[in-house]
Amino acid sequence: MSHSTTPLPLMSRKAQGLKGTIRVPGDKSMSHRALMFGAVARGETTIKGLLEAEDVINTAKAMAALGARVERYRDGTWHVEGVGIGGLKSPPVDLDFGNSGTGVRLAIGLMASTPLTARCVGDASLSKRPMGRVTKPLAQFGTRFETSEGDRLPLTLHGAGDAKPVTYTLPVASAQVKSAVLLAGLNTAGVTTVIEPVATRDHTERMLKSFGAKIAVTDKDGARHITLEGRHELTAQAIDVPGDPSSAAFPMVAALISPGSEIVIENIMLNPTRTGLFVTLQEMGADITFENRRQAGGEDVADIRVRSSRLKGVRVPPERAPSMIDEYPILSVAASFAEGTTRMEGLEELRVKESDRLAAVESGLQVNGVMTHSGRDWLEVQGGGAPGGGTVTTHMDHRIAMSFLVMGLASRIHTSVDDSAFIATSFPGFTDLMNGMGARMAPKAVEQ
Ligand code: S3P
Repeated sequence: MSHSTTPLPLMSRKAQGLKGTIRVPGDKSMSHRALMFGAVARGETTIKGLLEAEDVINTAKAMAALGARVERYRDGTWHVEGVGIGGLKSPPVDLDFGNSGTGVRLAIGLMASTPLTARCVGDASLSKRPMGRVTKPLAQFGTRFETSEGDRLPLTLHGAGDAKPVTYTLPVASAQVKSAVLLAGLNTAGVTTVIEPVATRDHTERMLKSFGAKIAVTDKDGARHITLEGRHELTAQAIDVPGDPSSAAFPMVAALISPGSEIVIENIMLNPTRTGLFVTLQEMGADITFENRRQAGGEDVADIRVRSSRLKGVRVPPERAPSMIDEYPILSVAASFAEGTTRMEGLEELRVKESDRLAAVESGLQVNGVMTHSGRDWLEVQGGGAPGGGTVTTHMDHRIAMSFLVMGLASRIHTSVDDSAFIATSFPGFTDLMNGMGARMAPKAVEQ
């Protein structure tokens, strides 16, 4: 799904304290996977709580173009009739993944070991992102790729007819790369192995297991070895997707920095490979409590109560990065309201997200009067409060847009973002939800 080229500038003003009990949309990682695994399972998978945002809708369309029946029922449940392992067909159209790295990289893995041809495209942001990190290991299965310069999109994939199993050690801490290799293993005879020196989000392993895949995880000398025996059918599942902790991060930080706030965010997934931000905020002194802990969709889930808090700066160690990789922009906003300096390390992967997030965050902080220092893979943010007043360039990045709108709720002068349209890729209804709790986010007239 491509955006119109008209940007949607938005302004955010100081709030009086946020109040309310809210839910955020379903987890993005689980939503992509539920659609993809459903598409190659036998039978009808049902998905409740699917994130109905552009990134995930693009994955749904791609699965339909590959031959699965994908349908949304009136009650909001999604139904996916799978084609079985090896049953995907060459799509009659280009597969357009819009803004989503997860969508395209996982789909490439899913298609890699089936003899089909597919052309994958994306928007301007996705077309700048590296695909070599998946095409290289997948070529070892026998998959052929024609890529654009620098191993980028658009690319054409020719799936392997008789794929050879691969053992691959991840050179970067990336759940997308891990998942692409494992998904290629599904239709490959023999055992595919991924060795993960640093643990990344494990939704692929958990959900494949629930679909009946022959997948096992062992620890060897501190590394995770994931083995998958290929050519076994998956069985359709009923999946309940809990709220996305990466989306909950925005109202959470908004409540922390906006004095007089108390909110509850219900039904948030607490997979330990995703909760680095919560740990960090608690170290900073945040008043966050996890209530009504329970299990949903094979994951720990809780309601999170957040009260405004006096935060202090901390050092965030590099080994925590994989468990909060999408949360550094909003953490940086929290850090600018803390007492003292916050130092974040191990950030090299931020350079290849929807934007160069390290650069985008730093310039967003600076135009709003926050002092920063940075290096190739680290960022220091000086706290004490954000004066505000700046307009942030979002670079087609939803998380940059949401982070700096949150900043405006507590800065001395309003903040603005040049384009809020990309928020729809992950968090439809964001501004209405925030305004419903007392935020003041509104369209900004374009300056002549
Ligand atoms: C994701 C993995 C992460 C994350 C992305 C979602 C996933 O990317 O940034 O938003 O669902 O597997 P990397 O695997 O590239 O770190």
